[in-house]
Amino acid sequence: MSKPKAVMVLGGKGGVGKTFISVNLALHLRDSGKTVGILDTDFGASNIGHFIDLSKGSMDFEQDRFKPANVDGIEVFSISFIVGDKTVSMQGAQYAELIRDAVNNTEWTCEYLIVDCPPGFGDEVRTSAKVLSDSLLGSIIVMIPAHYLDAKRAIELHRDLGIPLLGVIENMSYFECEHGGRYPIFGESMIDKLVEEYGVTAFGKIPLRMDIREKVNKKEPKLEGDLAEPILRAVDVIVNAKPRKPSFLEKMKKYVKKWVDKLVVEAILAINKEIDIKGLQDATGYKGGSIIRLNIYDDDYDSLLTQGDFMIHEGKLVAVDGAGYDDVDVVIDVTPSVLAHAILGERNGKPYSLEDAYRLGEVRVWGRGRQAQAIHFLKYAWNIIRSREDVMNKIAPVIAKIVG
Ligand SMILES: Nc1ncnc2c1ncn2[C@@H]1O[C@H](COP(=O)(O)OP(=O)(O)OP(=O)(O)O)[C@@H](O)[C@H]1O
Ligand SMILES: [Mg+2]
Repeated sequence: MSKPKAVMVLGGKGGVGKTFISVNLALHLRDSGKTVGILDTDFGASNIGHFIDLSKGSMDFEQDRFKPANVDGIEVFSISFIVGDKTVSMQGAQYAELIRDAVNNTEWTCEYLIVDCPPGFGDEVRTSAKVLSDSLLGSIIVMIPAHYLDAKRAIELHRDLGIPLLGVIENMSYFECEHGGRYPIFGESMIDKLVEEYGVTAFGKIPLRMDIREKVNKKEPKLEGDLAEPILRAVDVIVNAKPRKPSFLEKMKKYVKKWVDKLVVEAILAINKEIDIKGLQDATGYKGGSIIRLNIYDDDYDSLLTQGDFMIHEGKLVAVDGAGYDDVDVVIDVTPSVLAHAILGERNGKPYSLEDAYRLGEVRVWGRGRQAQAIHFLKYAWNIIRSREDVMNKIAPVIAKIVG
């Protein structure tokens, strides 16, 4: 069974209408003849039951797999089927496991999957994007006029992470009373400004209206007529979108480990020959003697490709054999494509450095009291590598392959 083509619906703040828009996308996709599912990833504050009648279906378990509920012809995965309206409060790793199973170990038979996200762009959204991976068509940002800055940040983050942005919907764009009067209660519309500044696709504006609320209360959230236009535009883009191509690394997974091992050995030799380690120690205050563990993961941070322990000893970087976990002072996690893009200095058309990788959680540093030193170190190392034209020329062909 192939994974359904997924669309994430997200937005910076809570209560802007992400779930309302998600349900509308699903209903309109269904009524245009597509099979569709909704994955409610707002485990902590699931409220999909506010819009559709969850009592019409139930989620089942088949051995080690979930079976989504069927509600009015839409497949639904929601934690509400498991915990009702009890509170869910999970730690990141547990949340990630559940997302993984919701995507990979659930009997989805639908062609399209709408992923209703919690507010913000934290762990949950990042995990969903990673897990959905090449079945992700892209995302739709829901904003209200007052949250222009959040929409801007969301767009920037999409560019940082290479998540395709299908378009933006401005919900609650203005309040419309029953006599047709329009009031910009959340401020003037901002969607045109976003289009102008970022060239994003605007699907349109949906007003805040009492009759919408009343219909939602009756669990009839489907927008009709003019009100549905932004949703129909989005549906049109969804059905014409193509999933992103798997990266070079995804295609080459089984060869990567060997290749990365070789690269690490060569990198140590090159670093000792080419880089002024004494200068690096002076710059970062790193005295040497402590052991740094470098973990190189695959692109999803799913499996460890290779691991090496190093220390600086008498002004040289040396590999350390047989270090136990307790001997290690700092652990640095990274992926080949992060390194490749950082060395290139560019990703998705935006400047990209090791510092950016750190800021985006793509280089992870573990070790108490090491964050300041780590940032310093990453900055220093990046500047050295980037400033050496001969080194850059040598590694350019390899990098080009990784970033495809
Ligand atoms: N255009 C609208 N007109 C009237 N009511 C609306 C409109 N859009 C959303 N609502 C109502 O606003 C409330 C919040 O919407 P919704 O739950 O979809 O937001 P959300 O962004 O998913 O929130 P959360 O971040 O908590 O998940 C709901 O009660 C919904 O019915
Ligand atoms: Mg919601």
